[in-house]
Amino acid sequence: MPSLVDREQQALFQTYNRLPLVPERAEGSCIYGANNKRYLDCVSGLGAMALGHSHPKVLSAVQQQTHRYMHLSNLFVQEPQIALAESLIAVSGLERVFFCNSGTEAIEGAVKLVRRFKRNSPGHIVAFEGGFHGRTLAALSMMNKPLYKDNMGPFGEGFVVVDENDTDTVKNALEGASAVFFEPVKGEGGIRLLNSAVVPLIQQAQSRGTLVVCDEIQSGLGRTGAFFAFEHLDIMPDIVTIAKAIGGGLPLGAILAREVVAQAFEKGHHGTTFGGNAVACAAGQVVIQELQSGLLEAVREKSTYFLAELQKSLQDVQVVESIRIYGLMIGIQLNESAGQYVERLLHEHNIIANATSGTVIRLLPPLIITPAELQEVATALHAVLSNT
Ligand SMILES: Cc1ncc(COP(=O)(O)O)c(C=O)c1O
Repeated sequence: MPSLVDREQQALFQTYNRLPLVPERAEGSCIYGANNKRYLDCVSGLGAMALGHSHPKVLSAVQQQTHRYMHLSNLFVQEPQIALAESLIAVSGLERVFFCNSGTEAIEGAVKLVRRFKRNSPGHIVAFEGGFHGRTLAALSMMNKPLYKDNMGPFGEGFVVVDENDTDTVKNALEGASAVFFEPVKGEGGIRLLNSAVVPLIQQAQSRGTLVVCDEIQSGLGRTGAFFAFEHLDIMPDIVTIAKAIGGGLPLGAILAREVVAQAFEKGHHGTTFGGNAVACAAGQVVIQELQSGLLEAVREKSTYFLAELQKSLQDVQVVESIRIYGLMIGIQLNESAGQYVERLLHEHNIIANATSGTVIRLLPPLIITPAELQEVATALHAVLSNT
């Protein structure tokens, strides 16, 4: 019988670089491979497993809802969907929720919503270079990474992608724009907070009627130590897109919007078969409840602790240029390619991390990671980065 790795290579589209381990099970902050070998998971399902793996309250909510009903479709009023929408409204300050299945779908829906809302005075949509918004065509239209776009066009019209560090260009681009889409903290772009110089430009544009759309798909739901990363900026968005952590491990995304904006979608304008699936919403409710029961504060404390540990262990390490940390969204900027170090973390220390933006080690541990586990990561980083 060929190995699973061989079968993967025969059966599936070869679009992913897979890690050289085949998980058997996962619990808390850890993934276990063959022979119960333990790996510390600092990727947490690409930011989706905020409560870690197999969280007992998530499992119980999923089980209960599964027995009640799994999928009915949006032909029905469903209690788990409404409860989660109400929770999201309470924590975001926005007023309405549309549920979908994934991040890119939330972005796609937000583009349509902007266009509907601005139907009497249409303008372009501004986004920033180095951003990541997903893999569907509208999301790609607001991104500039060639690998994701080569020979896949034509893309959507009416998008302008600018360098956020070139404030004159940003200012010009925002003139007459329908909306500006951005990640408050770029994830795939290397864990970078939005350039503070563009914040007043965005505020001015918003006061002229440009909609502000925060892509919180990676940075939202406690990841940065706040419910939403826009709270670190002096910005109140009109629309927020979320996904990843909101599903508690199941596929779920959402568009949150101000009342007046949400009204631009009338019956039949937008929809999805699975969006807001009852089981995913029941799991998502646990995520919100845990964040509200002390987890958010714990993220902030662990962030402070980990930063101090990293500063101690990496201070004299030549290859490290800087450390960027927002809650438990962590980027270690190197002055050379990060790939080899991520491989060594896995092979030599059983720590799963991820290289992004070429030279950045990205860590997105589950928010329930313990200080002792963070210490383990700091020690391993010191070992691989100082080549000891
Ligand atoms: C900021 C951001 N936006 C959008 C997406 C796309 O989400 P999805 O992969 O669920 O479509 C991602 C995924 O990594 C993301 O990080």
